[in-house]
Amino acid sequence: MIATPAAVDNPGLAALPFETYRQAPNAELNERIEAVKRELGDALLILGHHYQQDEVIRFADLRGDSLKLSQLAAESRACRAIVFCGVHFMAETADILSRDEVTVHLPDMGAGCSMADMADLDSVEAAWADLGELIDVEDLTPVTYINSTAELKAFCGRHGGIVCTSTNARKVLDWAFAKNSRALFFPDQHLGRNTARAMGIPLDRMHVWNPRLPLGGNSVEAIENSRVLLWRGHCSVHQMFKPAHVGQFRKQFPGIKVLVHPECMMEVVELADLVGSTEFIIKTVENAPAGSTWAVGTELHLVNRLAAENPDKTIHFLSPMVCMCATMSRIDLPHLAWCLDNLARGTPVNQVKVPDETARWARVALQRMLDLP
Ligand code: 13P
Ligand code: SF4
Repeated sequence: MIATPAAVDNPGLAALPFETYRQAPNAELNERIEAVKRELGDALLILGHHYQQDEVIRFADLRGDSLKLSQLAAESRACRAIVFCGVHFMAETADILSRDEVTVHLPDMGAGCSMADMADLDSVEAAWADLGELIDVEDLTPVTYINSTAELKAFCGRHGGIVCTSTNARKVLDWAFAKNSRALFFPDQHLGRNTARAMGIPLDRMHVWNPRLPLGGNSVEAIENSRVLLWRGHCSVHQMFKPAHVGQFRKQFPGIKVLVHPECMMEVVELADLVGSTEFIIKTVENAPAGSTWAVGTELHLVNRLAAENPDKTIHFLSPMVCMCATMSRIDLPHLAWCLDNLARGTPVNQVKVPDETARWARVALQRMLDLP
């Protein structure tokens, strides 16, 4: 039995330990979550990413993809605390963009993003210094996918760069190329390549930067000739979709439409009918005619939800493997209930707080993105 929260705002109390929540039955956890939501009212805002599991996303006040969630955090007016049912970089972004008095909490600090972990500040600074020996970095725009640490967003802020999401990557690269003739894109090589390709940049002007190799594994000529340098990062969930899966579905279901996220590899994107961010995928399926058949290449929880919410269409998952975001799934009912109870009790846990100087520069790069028309 979980102890009922005793008091609001009692900093002298120790936080409730997580252990009792791990064993508690779901019905009790659901009740606890509902009770805290009622008690805190508008002071609490629960944000949820579309990849979140059903038992958790049902408690989100607002849900969205990364762009929508960052806009919602920036626009939030009434709340004092945001509980983020997503991953760490999303909670950092909410902290950077929300009002100063708002605190942001991630129910399980282990909910990271393996792609975001593939680029760290030291490696990016080292790459920037190496590139500075060969090309004019004043003519190079750093572009970071929002799936990155706040430190990398701050790096972009300081160096005239910008953040993008999968919704606006094209618009962001258009902005970057209006300013400079080259871009360094991190951490997702696939989003960078798919977007630059759609803009007509030839593949032989895009080179992968492997941070473990001298000059990123490139020749001097390749770097001098480059328009886009693509950091060697990827999403372990979206890389599971292969060109052969598209072929299998087309053979088995003639007329099927294939819809994928731009974090999928170029060879998959090229074979798909449509490519776009999570919000785009949801809208496309919702607006599709009844009776249509789709194979969708993105995270499993979202695809299962789309199938359940669109029973008039046939929705397949574009892989025989289970491709789910395991880190996002760490936000489960026990962690959410534990985090909310502690918030209501005045013993907040798992606050995500970006240091002021990092936040200041990261906001510059995020704001450049949010200001795009
Ligand atoms: P969206 O921008 O579509 O929300 O994608 C975020 C993400 O992490 C996809 O893996
Ligand atoms: Fe990161 Fe991939 Fe999970 Fe998105 S799906 S949060 S990119 S690991």
